[in-house]
Amino acid sequence: MYNLPKKTPEVKKFLLFTPGPVNVAKNVRLAICKEDICHREADFSFLLRRIENKLLRLFEIRNMSEYRAVVITGSGTAANEALLSSAVGDKNILILSNGEFGERLHNISVIHNKNTFLLKFPWGDRLDLGEVETYLRKYKIDILMMVHHETSSGMLNPLEKVGALCLKYGVMFIVDCVSSVGAEVIDMEQNHITFCSSSSSKAVASYPGLSFVVGKTIAFENLENLPQQSTYLNLNKHYQFLKISQTPNTPAVPLFFALEQALDNILVEGLAQRYLDLRYKANFLRQGMLNLGLKFLIDQNDMCSVLTTVYIPSHIDVDIFRQKLREKSIIVYGAKGCFKGRVFQVGNIGELSLDDLQFFLDALRDVLRGFDRLETGIINTIIKPVPTFLGESFEGEDLESPATV
Ligand SMILES: Cc1ncc(COP(=O)(O)O)c(C=O)c1O
Repeated sequence: MYNLPKKTPEVKKFLLFTPGPVNVAKNVRLAICKEDICHREADFSFLLRRIENKLLRLFEIRNMSEYRAVVITGSGTAANEALLSSAVGDKNILILSNGEFGERLHNISVIHNKNTFLLKFPWGDRLDLGEVETYLRKYKIDILMMVHHETSSGMLNPLEKVGALCLKYGVMFIVDCVSSVGAEVIDMEQNHITFCSSSSSKAVASYPGLSFVVGKTIAFENLENLPQQSTYLNLNKHYQFLKISQTPNTPAVPLFFALEQALDNILVEGLAQRYLDLRYKANFLRQGMLNLGLKFLIDQNDMCSVLTTVYIPSHIDVDIFRQKLREKSIIVYGAKGCFKGRVFQVGNIGELSLDDLQFFLDALRDVLRGFDRLETGIINTIIKPVPTFLGESFEGEDLESPATV
């Protein structure tokens, strides 16, 4: 339960140590203020074509003529729902899940596809590939969809191994790469991936509000033969409009300008350098947190380079802890589902300098020490959780009714 503050708080600058949204670069912030253009004019068509080309380069597609990238106005879920409502039809689809976002894929799929199957592993556990193979051998599965980076735990699921199984059993492979694109290599060609979904606001480091589906041209062409079970998220329609460098509905044009700038930033830096930089920052934070005596939810070898999921020491209330960091202008994530109250999550994407990371580690040390003093009775004041205005409890699913203000 949360209470909205009586007065709208002044929004100050926060350092977003989250898996997205992120602190965007200055040139991305400025890009959104470019000229007003009409999306039915050539100006927008050129912009869309440039973005498509840059997205294919982001995915390091070698045979560019065999892949297309559809951009959708809507957050990452829009791309996932476009895929699940447009690319399956009456085929058998298996969803692999080891966390919140795998479960969400399943929840979307059952709405649109009667032949949806689920192979569910405990949150924070690796996918059991032996079990996956047994399932594919035993049952006729046409499509397999999974999350690449399961953001709820920070687990990076193995594209290469699942892709090889899909190839072996003749299964179409679709991957939710919402929180990994821009931070990890995603080789669609080598890993036999037909479609990938992702979004603008995570490791791509632009504003929230755009998502995209990158896929094989031949698979996009085939959508025409499948029932399209959504109007706004009709992927075939998006694809047909893409062919004339247009979108079916009014796109959020300023976000397209911002996305193009964010893609330019990555491509100018170079993908390899960007991946190295993020990995370095993740390791810097991880080492700093280990030095403070903190423990991680999963093995470091299984982590993506954008996020670290950290156990909250047992004497600390995670909401108060997050509030204490917030007072130091730092935002970290709470957790979802079975991890709620047990862990917090620290992202390292967006405009975070090494000084910012050190500032975070110093602030974290101070906040933890404050709790230690409380624990040992040096400070006797009782701290009540302060209702947060921008807390993770605003994320939807877990909300209770807000109190009347
Ligand atoms: C792996 C993954 N998939 C899907 C989503 C949903 O994206 P959105 O909240 O942008 O709709 C998220 C959001 O964090 C995610 O991390």
